[in-house]
Amino acid sequence: MPSSTLLQRLLTVRHQSEALIAPLEPEDLCLQGMADASPPKWHLAHTTWFFETFVLKPFQPEHRSADPRWGYLFNSYYETVGPRQPRPDRGLLSRPPMKDITHWRQRVNASLEALLNQGEDPRYCELIELGLQHEQQHQELLLMDLLDGFSRQPLEPSYNASWEPASSTCSAPCRWLEHPGGLVEIGASRDAIEPRAFHFDNEAPRHRVWLEPFAISSQLVRNDAYQHFIDDDGYKRPELWMSEGWAICQQRGWQAPRYWRQDHPDAAWSSEFTLAGRQPLDPHQPVRHLSWFEADAFARWAGLRLPSEAEWEIAARSHGDALEESHDTLWQWTSSPYRPYPGFQPAAGAVGEYNGKFMTSQFVLRGSSQLTPTSHARLTYRNFFAPASRWMAAGIRLAR
Ligand SMILES: [Fe+2]
Repeated sequence: MPSSTLLQRLLTVRHQSEALIAPLEPEDLCLQGMADASPPKWHLAHTTWFFETFVLKPFQPEHRSADPRWGYLFNSYYETVGPRQPRPDRGLLSRPPMKDITHWRQRVNASLEALLNQGEDPRYCELIELGLQHEQQHQELLLMDLLDGFSRQPLEPSYNASWEPASSTCSAPCRWLEHPGGLVEIGASRDAIEPRAFHFDNEAPRHRVWLEPFAISSQLVRNDAYQHFIDDDGYKRPELWMSEGWAICQQRGWQAPRYWRQDHPDAAWSSEFTLAGRQPLDPHQPVRHLSWFEADAFARWAGLRLPSEAEWEIAARSHGDALEESHDTLWQWTSSPYRPYPGFQPAAGAVGEYNGKFMTSQFVLRGSSQLTPTSHARLTYRNFFAPASRWMAAGIRLAR
């Protein structure tokens, strides 16, 4: 990508983060609903810290860094870089105020622009692209964290009153897309057709996988199908659940997906909390915001299973159109634990902490969601979350 194109992309992505917080009230900027989530202001500061720490400090000596104490505030998990504010306490950071963060963002943008104007050194161009992909990831996190924070408030605020779930073709008949299996290749290739197309380190290398014949559903599981699971005591039958999931289901009193709502405890599940506030539960929409444990239990109840990530990727490639109708609506849980591909090499330097050290105790999600920025989705993309997590926009696609 020539640096003028990269610069254009930089300004677009950075502006998009600011556009995302435009509908918020000042008090919302520090909202942290739970330990796993972060306040909107922190997301905007942390993505700026990423550029300053990993691009400007090594490559742009003329850049004047922020207050050195801010490194402690806005480092997320980079041990190489130093200690940091505990994640559950990010909501305490009422200072620095947003206006100082906004000013910092502008200064960092200007320094990145000056750097790009010096030329196209791949060492920093690749890090800038990584920083942009990172910021896009945080744009989705910002929205899902905000949904969590708003969902906990009695006034049930809406982020955007006209927000609607992505138009889905769930009303189209669901089909089973068959694949003969065999020796297939998955993952991102270093010598792809577009040599500078971005992928995270965890998507490579491309490698061979053996698949048995399988079929994958053309559609995501709908709310009405999930309601049948609930009506059939899906949340009360331990034989449907993995042991750990059953224990968590009991401890946390799960009875339905994360944002389903009842008017009173014995009433039907009639509404769903969304970025537009509480909305009627649409039986034809894909079920969303549930854990891997729930997706897995549902699949077992249906006599089916979740696809592996290799099946998902191969199906998405070979049945592109059929799957495409719904693969960008919600992330989809797979049966695959998040582990390194054979021959995985973490990125060099501190940014090698980005993905590799999380390759344990989590499951892979494929696709993308309505909250994912459009230039951020790829067929080889490996998203990952702990199996009890429910606050990301995840749904269910079945296989057999
Ligand atoms: Fe981050």
